[in-house]
Amino acid sequence: MNLLVVGATGTLGRQVVRYALDQGLQVKCLVRNPKRATFLREWGAELVVGDLTKQETIEAALRGVTHVVDAATTRPTDSLRIKEVDWQGKVHLIQAVEKAEISKFVFFSILHAEKYRQVPLMEIKYCTEQFLAQTQLDYTILKPCGFMQGLIGQYAIPILEGQTIWITGESCPIAYMNTQDVAKFAVKALSIPATKRQSYALAGVKAWSPSEIVALCEKLSGKTARTAGMPLGLLRFVRNVALAFEWTWSVAERMAFVEVMAGGIPIDAPMAETCALFQIPASEITTLEDYLQDYFSRILRKLRELQYKDPKIKTPF
Ligand SMILES: NC(=O)c1ccc[n+]([C@@H]2O[C@H](COP(=O)([O-])OP(=O)(O)OC[C@H]3O[C@@H](n4cnc5c(N)ncnc54)[C@H](OP(=O)(O)O)[C@@H]3O)[C@@H](O)[C@H]2O)c1
Repeated sequence: MNLLVVGATGTLGRQVVRYALDQGLQVKCLVRNPKRATFLREWGAELVVGDLTKQETIEAALRGVTHVVDAATTRPTDSLRIKEVDWQGKVHLIQAVEKAEISKFVFFSILHAEKYRQVPLMEIKYCTEQFLAQTQLDYTILKPCGFMQGLIGQYAIPILEGQTIWITGESCPIAYMNTQDVAKFAVKALSIPATKRQSYALAGVKAWSPSEIVALCEKLSGKTARTAGMPLGLLRFVRNVALAFEWTWSVAERMAFVEVMAGGIPIDAPMAETCALFQIPASEITTLEDYLQDYFSRILRKLRELQYKDPKIKTPF
């Protein structure tokens, strides 16, 4: 199996590369900037320079490839808009994958995309699912809820640094998953025939509300969080202001996710059948307690070491 990972430098993509290499697969990574991807080469993957917005680079990257996992998405820091990468880029990718007669294509959508079509990225994910269904490809769609890794910047670091955490009381609970677990489902899908042209929700062990995550971080860090309530109406207002200026459209597109958070539908799904099919025991799926415990233990140990070496360094506890 010769696997191409698109979006290999990303939070999820790098875990797909790591797990695929650990399983003995030949892995090629389509990367925009090889300097930022040297760690992937050091792990044993081959790098090929490409960009979803440059069709010719996709076709070249697919040479010699038998399987593809697409974990790319627009970076919030990029000037490119969601439509250019997540729609036009993905349409080019899927067409090139079909032309190259790739044996299996794994695509990441988002849970409940079909329910929130007023949110630009959800609409694009939904349309891509429909577009895939019109091809003859052997594809699998995985629909995660949210990644635990995102909670570090959102909650853990602000708590350690004593910064204010803004939370909206109306937010739905989300069953976050560790990207290492999501990566296992993606790589396993490549060789399970029953996953052909199917989609699967991927959810963590439990759905967590923002206040529950704050309480967990407080318990594990030994710090008291500074929280402030952000009314939903204010978020919507800020989004509308962002929509008024072209240069902040991409910010507004991302802020549209507030509608998902406030949609009243818990972002969660049962996993027993999916775990059985993918032969991943449910007991192996990382809990948020374990994930954050590991993070805080490592970071607090590191900070203590730094303070031991140089007492002038102030630690945040
Ligand atoms: N984050 C979540 O909570 C979440 C939840 C549900 C589903 N998902 C889905 O899971 C997938 C992975 O998300 P993620 O959070 O891991 O993404 P991420 O960390 O933001 O990484 C995005 C990746 O896409 C690449 N990329 C961006 N623009 C590109 C372009 N024009 N051409 C080629 N590559 C490009 C980036 O490469 P560079 O390093 O060059 O920028 C990076 O490798 C996405 O499909 C996302 O929609 C994410």
